[in-house]
Amino acid sequence: MNPVVLRVSDLRKTYVDGDVETPVLKGINLEFHRGEFVSLMGPSGSGKSTLLSILGTLLRPTSGEVELVGNKLSTLDDGDVTRFRNLHIGFVFQFHHLLPDFTALENVLFPTLPRRVDDPRTERARAIELLRRVGLSDRMNFRATKLSGGQKQRVAVARALMNAPEIVFADEPTGNLDRDTGEEVLALMRELCVEHGTMFLISTHDEEIARRSDRTVRILDGRVVSS
Ligand SMILES: Nc1ncnc2c1ncn2[C@@H]1O[C@H](COP(=O)(O)OP(=O)(O)OP(=O)(O)O)[C@@H](O)[C@H]1O
Ligand SMILES: [Mg+2]
Repeated sequence: MNPVVLRVSDLRKTYVDGDVETPVLKGINLEFHRGEFVSLMGPSGSGKSTLLSILGTLLRPTSGEVELVGNKLSTLDDGDVTRFRNLHIGFVFQFHHLLPDFTALENVLFPTLPRRVDDPRTERARAIELLRRVGLSDRMNFRATKLSGGQKQRVAVARALMNAPEIVFADEPTGNLDRDTGEEVLALMRELCVEHGTMFLISTHDEEIARRSDRTVRILDGRVVSS
């Protein structure tokens, strides 16, 4: 079995708003290995997006530990977490979150901005190769606003892989696409998972995605019911 890239121990999250407390994650334990392609399912409101946000270091848990590629998140301060996220984690969201006035190529290069780039030409070549890989060689210099929904999502997949992250979190990445386009984007993520050894964790309401993943983590009311 490949090494563990993500370990979650007794993870809890309670949202607090004034004197209203909303417990959402109630003790999650999980382990993921390098190169795994995993789906995350559960009814609306079960805590999928909350879990992905915490694992993706966008949100701090109330208690429990997340260990990502050997780093315990609780030991990192906010600046370290930001650097860590940029180097090791990619995201694909339901809505692509591309920068509308920038081209496909510029959007894919965007994750390289916060870090020191040794050779811009190498980075550019990698971005071009990723766009070729997602089938958009002829759209590289199109602004995001001039791409179709499926094309935008493929740019988002290329962008997620730009910094060669160990892990990609995808929150309903096909939720906004028609079935054929959704399948295309899923197949692409699966291929990239195999080629790059990247672990993918994909939240979805689509049983078809679950069937096509290595395994499915199911959560219900903030607890893992099967994994
Ligand atoms: N900032 C917040 N403050 C308070 N409660 C929140 C907050 N964000 C989410 N919640 C609550 O946490 C619960 C889980 O939300 P979450 O978005 O994680 O669910 P989900 O499984 O992703 O649902 P969906 O399938 O609809 O996307 C919901 O009941 C929601 O109302
Ligand atoms: Mg959600």
